[in-house]
Amino acid sequence: MEHNFKILIADASHQDFAKIICDEMESSAKARGTGIAKRSPDYIQQKMRDGKAVIAFTEDGIWAGFCYIETWSHGEYVANSGLIVSPQFRKSGLAKQIKKKIFELSRKTYPEAKIFGLTTGLAVMKINSELGYEPVTYSELTQDDAFWAGCKSCVNYEILMSKERKNCMCTAMLYDPKDHYEPEETQQDFTKHSKLYERFMRIKQWKLLAPFLKHHEPANNKSGANGGSGKSGGAPEGAKRHRSLFHSFLNF
Ligand SMILES: CC(C)(COP(=O)(O)OP(=O)(O)OC[C@H]1O[C@@H](n2cnc3c(N)ncnc32)[C@H](O)[C@@H]1OP(=O)(O)O)[C@@H](O)C(=O)NCCC(=O)NCCS
Repeated sequence: MEHNFKILIADASHQDFAKIICDEMESSAKARGTGIAKRSPDYIQQKMRDGKAVIAFTEDGIWAGFCYIETWSHGEYVANSGLIVSPQFRKSGLAKQIKKKIFELSRKTYPEAKIFGLTTGLAVMKINSELGYEPVTYSELTQDDAFWAGCKSCVNYEILMSKERKNCMCTAMLYDPKDHYEPEETQQDFTKHSKLYERFMRIKQWKLLAPFLKHHEPANNKSGANGGSGKSGGAPEGAKRHRSLFHSFLNF
């Protein structure tokens, strides 16, 4: 069924939806067999009051989706986190609309900040690449301990730590306002290579997991907890650095 959604910048009037949003985040993570950076309704409500969240409803006022902004390293980095779409409204383009709105809000509120995300989901990678994000290595993300502490509740945290926070199951993506490709370019790259990316993602995950399989039961490793929805710094003088997913995938 076709739906028209209202995509709004959340405010205090939406606070009653915080509980249903948290519950859906938790049950979706369970269904995917992942850990999650746990968010409390209080935390979500604060984001709403601060005008740092986007909420979506159907025309009839049914809650349909949500995402919020977090800042790290004293505002140098912004993450668009906690992306969630109510299961009944998935695959109808809603996540794409929510991500576009939260990206615009992030750009307006923090015009200098690098916007990043960690994800294992192909859907989120596709959406990010349509916004101009490109894949990067973890070293290009915030090194703020408070951000990485959010990964503690993820089933893959041991892998992340064994790699000294340099790699894990998630792909890091980033948009640097000072040095970025045009969305048409990143989108074209993703479309051209998406099958390969999917394959490389599986290989990378298998490689990362292999040392742990000797000691543990195989886990259902699918996705990270600190993601949500991620690049660039110091380009070679006068030239844009060329990035491809291979660069980050092969960095293990
Ligand atoms: C991931 C999630 C947000 C996607 O929401 P959605 O509204 O279904 O996504 P959209 O309909 O906007 O899809 C965007 C694109 O991704 C594709 N896509 C959607 N789900 C996909 C999936 N599971 N696998 C591969 N591609 C997918 C869509 O086909 C679409 O591509 P298109 O533009 O070529 O049609 C939703 O499934 C969800 O809430 N999952 C649980 C929480 C979660 O994983 N959050 C992300 C944490 S990083």
